[in-house]
Amino acid sequence: MSATDSLKQHPGLIPPPEEFIKNAAISGMDAYYALCAEAEQDYCAYWSRLARKHLAWQKPFSVTLDESNAPFYKWFEDGTLNVSFNCLDRNLENGNADRTAIRFESDDGEVTSISYRELHKKVCELANGLKSLGVGKGDRVVIYMPMAIEGVAAMQACARIGATHSVVFGGFSAKSLQERIIDAGAVALITADEQVRAGKTLPLKAIADDALANGGCESIRKVVVYRRTGGAVDMDVTRDIWLHDLMANQSSECEPEWVSAEHPLFILYTSGSTGTPKGVQHSSGGYLLWAALTMKWTFDLKPSDIFWCTADIGWITGHTYITYGPLAVGATQIMFEGVPTYPDAARFWKMIEKHRATIFYTAPTAIRTLIKAANAEPAMHPGQFDLTSLRLLGSVGEPINPEAWMWYYKNVGGARCPIVDTFWQTETGGHMISPLPGATPMVPGSCTLPLPGIMAAVVDETGAELPNGQGGLLVIKRPWPSMLRTVWGNPDRYRAGYFPEELGGTTYLAGDGAIRDKDTGYFTITGRVDDVLNVSGHRMGTMEIESALVAHALVAEAAVVGKRDATTGEAICVFVVLKRSRPAGDEAKQIAKELRDWVGKEIGPIAKPKEIRFGDNLPKTRSGKIMRRILRVLANNEEVTQDISTLENPAILEQLKQAL
Ligand code: PRX
Repeated sequence: MSATDSLKQHPGLIPPPEEFIKNAAISGMDAYYALCAEAEQDYCAYWSRLARKHLAWQKPFSVTLDESNAPFYKWFEDGTLNVSFNCLDRNLENGNADRTAIRFESDDGEVTSISYRELHKKVCELANGLKSLGVGKGDRVVIYMPMAIEGVAAMQACARIGATHSVVFGGFSAKSLQERIIDAGAVALITADEQVRAGKTLPLKAIADDALANGGCESIRKVVVYRRTGGAVDMDVTRDIWLHDLMANQSSECEPEWVSAEHPLFILYTSGSTGTPKGVQHSSGGYLLWAALTMKWTFDLKPSDIFWCTADIGWITGHTYITYGPLAVGATQIMFEGVPTYPDAARFWKMIEKHRATIFYTAPTAIRTLIKAANAEPAMHPGQFDLTSLRLLGSVGEPINPEAWMWYYKNVGGARCPIVDTFWQTETGGHMISPLPGATPMVPGSCTLPLPGIMAAVVDETGAELPNGQGGLLVIKRPWPSMLRTVWGNPDRYRAGYFPEELGGTTYLAGDGAIRDKDTGYFTITGRVDDVLNVSGHRMGTMEIESALVAHALVAEAAVVGKRDATTGEAICVFVVLKRSRPAGDEAKQIAKELRDWVGKEIGPIAKPKEIRFGDNLPKTRSGKIMRRILRVLANNEEVTQDISTLENPAILEQLKQAL
C-alpha cells in the first residue's frame, strides 16, 4: 500500500475537498511525496531547480549550498539579484502592472488601493530619497511604522538600495526601540507621526524622539516621518524630514542595487531564553525563494485570489506574508491597519465579505477572541456574513486547539475550506511544517508534515531520533534556504543557541517540543522547551520581563512564568519580592498596577503581566536557584505534586498560592 493510501485509510483525518485537490499547485499526496523524494535524492539539485525557476537572477549562481563553514551556511552565494526587483519590476514585465498589489483598509474603514505600477513608483521615489540622505548598500535602517502601504514601501525601498532594514513593532516602547537601534547600528529611522488602532492614536514620533534622546543612538543621522494623522510632532530641522518631502521631485525610476543572494535583507529582533532580544539576520535570495514558494505551495496562490494575512509588518509573519511573499508572486492582498474587535468583533467577517477575500491567514488568539464574542452576541457570528468567497484558511503563531480549529473550519470556512496550520518561526523565514491544502489530510491541532525539502525530526537530548509517539525536541536536520544566517553581531549566540554541540553542531534546534503521531507520523507542536513565552502569538522572553521588573526601585526579586489562558494561549504571571515588606489589600493592588505600567513602559504594552503575586521570598533550592517549575504549577493553580525536598523554604508555597 502506498503512503498516500495508508493515510487515506486512517480514521479521523479530514481530507481536502476534491475540487481543491484538482486545481492545487501540489495536487494530492503523491505529488507531495514526489517532491520529498526529489529533495532526498539530490538535495542541492532540488533547491537549485526551485531557485532558478522561482526567482529572477541578475547573475545566476553556480554553487547552491556552501557548507564549508557550518553552521554558517551559504545559499546561492555567487548569484546576484535584487529582492525589490523580484517583487515589483518582475510584475511590471509580466502583465501585472495594473493589478492591485495592496488594498489597504484603515482603522476607520477607508480603503486605498495601489497597483503594482504605482507601488513600484512609490518604492523607487522613496529609495532615491533614502539615497539622497546618504543611505546605501549595507547600511541599517530601522523602521518603526504603523500598518501602512508606506511601511511596506519603506521595507521594499531598503531592499532596492541594498540597505538592511530592521522593523520594530509599533507596540514596543522607546527603550526597546533604542536598544534595537543601538544593536543594529542604524543610520536612519523611518517612522510616522502617529499610529491609529481601535480609534486611539499612539504617538510614534514622540516615542522615537524619546528613544533617540536616551543616548547611544548617535549612529542615526536622519529620521524620516510619514504623516499618518497630521497630529502635532516636534521636527528637528537638522535631523528630521517628512516622507512626502523626501519623495517629492525624486525620479520614479531607481536602478536596483544587485546584491549577492547572501546579502542581509533584514534583521528582526526576537526574544530568546536569555539576555536581550537577538537580531535574527536573514538573507536575500534564500529568504525570498521560500517566501515566494510557500505562497504557491502552502497558500496555493492563484491569480484570482484575494489574499489576507492579518499580521503586523513588525513581526516575521508580516515580513514574509505581507511585504515579500505576496508581492514576489504578484498577488492582490488586503492590508489592515486596525484590530479584530473594532468597531466590533465582526470586523474581520465584514472585511472578508466586503473585499471578497479568498485566503485568510490569522492567529489562534484572534480566533478564540472572536469565538467568545460570537457566543456572547449572535450579531458577531461569522454565520451572519457572506464568507463564500473564502477557499482557504490559515493559522499561525501558536498551537491551535482542536475546538478553535473546528469552529474556524465550520463557521468561517463553511466546512469547505482546508485549514493550513503553519508551524514556523522568526528564524525559519517561512513555513516549515504545514498541511498542503490540496494534498494533506488534516487533523485539528496538528501542523501535519514538513514541507518538501524541510528535514524535520523529533530527537532526544543527545540528538538521537525518537520513534513516533514519543515526545522530544523539534529539530531540522539539514540547512534550508530561508534559515537565519546568524544573530546580528553575535555569531557565538547563533551557534550556541541554534546548533548546540550536544546535537552535533549542525542540527537546527527549534526550541519547541514536538511529538509525531504513531500512525500518521504527523507532527504536533507541544510548545516551547525554553524560557520563552507565547502570549497571543507574541514571543516574549521571561528574562527580559524579569530584568524590566528588577529595574524598578521597589523590586528586589522577580520570577516570570507562563500561565495557561483560554484566549491568549499563555499569559504572563509574575512572582515578586519587594525591597520592603510584602504588601496586602489595596496597597498590593496599587503596586501591582504600578509594576504593570512599568513593564509596559520598559518593553511595551504586550509584555504587561496579567497576574502579579507578592511573596516574602521565592521558592529556592539550597544553592539559591529559583524553582520555576514549581512557580509554573502555582501560577496554574494546580497542586504541587513534584518533589520539593530540595526546596530550602517550602513554607513560602502557601503564601504564593494566592492570587491577588
Ligand atoms: O512556539 C512556536 C510558536 O511560535 C514560535 C515562533 O514565534 P515567532 O518567532 O514569533 O514566529 C511566529 C510566527 C511564525 C514557535 O517556536 N508557533 C508558531 N507557529 C505555530 C507555533 N506553535 C504551534 N503551532 C504553530 N502553527
